[in-house]
Amino acid sequence: MMTVEYDVADESLAPAGKLRIEWADRQMPVLQQIRERFEEEKPLSGERLAACLHVTTETANLMRTLAAGGAEIAVCASNPLSTQDDVAASLVVDYEIPVFAICGEDRDTYYDHVNAVLDMKPTITMDDGADLVSTLHSKRSELIEDVKGGMEETTTGVIRLRSMAAVGELRYPIISVNDAMTKHLFDNRFGTGQSTIDGILRATNILLAGKQFVVCGFGMCGRGVAMRAHGMGANVIICEVEPVRGLEAAMEGYRVMPIAEAAEIGDIFVTVTGDTSVIRGEHIARMKEGAILANSGHFDVEVSLKDLREMSTGVRQVRPSLQEFTLQGGRHVYLVGEGRLANLAAAEGHPAAVMDMSFANQSLCAEFLATSDVALAREVHPVPEEIDRRVAGLKLAAMGIEIDELTEEQKEYLASWELGT
Ligand code: ADE
Repeated sequence: MMTVEYDVADESLAPAGKLRIEWADRQMPVLQQIRERFEEEKPLSGERLAACLHVTTETANLMRTLAAGGAEIAVCASNPLSTQDDVAASLVVDYEIPVFAICGEDRDTYYDHVNAVLDMKPTITMDDGADLVSTLHSKRSELIEDVKGGMEETTTGVIRLRSMAAVGELRYPIISVNDAMTKHLFDNRFGTGQSTIDGILRATNILLAGKQFVVCGFGMCGRGVAMRAHGMGANVIICEVEPVRGLEAAMEGYRVMPIAEAAEIGDIFVTVTGDTSVIRGEHIARMKEGAILANSGHFDVEVSLKDLREMSTGVRQVRPSLQEFTLQGGRHVYLVGEGRLANLAAAEGHPAAVMDMSFANQSLCAEFLATSDVALAREVHPVPEEIDRRVAGLKLAAMGIEIDELTEEQKEYLASWELGT
């Protein structure tokens, strides 16, 4: 087990990280307002908050906000490839927040870092993918009695936590930040949409116009990716397993077909399902020369890397974040960001303006857990509606947008049932 107080790649990167953190902060007005209030009210004082998140400029501003609220904090990475080393350095050097995260860390170091954060004996956990909660339950269960609750940021993590709750294994309440409207309708759609395309373009610099672009999964993330690929002139094909989503995709004007069929047509493939082995050997075997594979789901399991390796006679790193696999028979396929989240491994993740809302929800939920008298059941809970609406209101105000208010007559009409034709 680690004994150091932080573990980052290179502290001398801190000045560059600080500049980028400050730049991101300019796009995060809701979080800024919360930070200012937290500074005065200190609603998190006495809390020890362990966070397992992508260590980005946006996360740094969340950490500043939680620290302003009076919490003691420690952060580790939620993915071995998503850490921005300059940001990790600045959090340590400029903001005195312990960080355990190094871009490219191996699996053992990743879990050493998760454990180092847990050493703080958290009262609140904040997860992106549920590795903190699962390590706490499976390896550090003696710490659970101190934990009053936690938050989960992403779809994959919520699925894991619901599975734990369903078999009675979840031992403290979790608020699913992912399910807040002001999170998934924006971060998952506009964030993943833009940042996934950003990752693919940085890794490959290809032209999207005229390409056959296959998106596996038509949840909020898939919708965002499809929408932005279409906007750049690609012909989008959707692969789904849920009939309603497949139907929606068809009525949005996309071609819908099984992956086995799309495999032969696609130039670019993106997985955003939260499930495993979505693109497998049998599909890769049917792909065109030069097909590009990218994953934007949380874990690197959506494209079967095992199958890809087994089918290949050689691998070359042809550009940063782009590997070329030579298949038996001589064809090539290309893999973005080692099959890890393309938007964070090959780009900088979602833009700050959308993380503003996600992380405003995180901050307000931390405050809710710290200050609420209500004992929550050991289940996965929604974000309180009042918080969701508050975040939307603050974001609209920050964007200088006003909306209408119901008149008294309209309120009465909505509350009545007698009035018909
Ligand atoms: N998840 C996706 N984009 C992110 C970002 N910019 N920061 C933290 N977590 C993210």
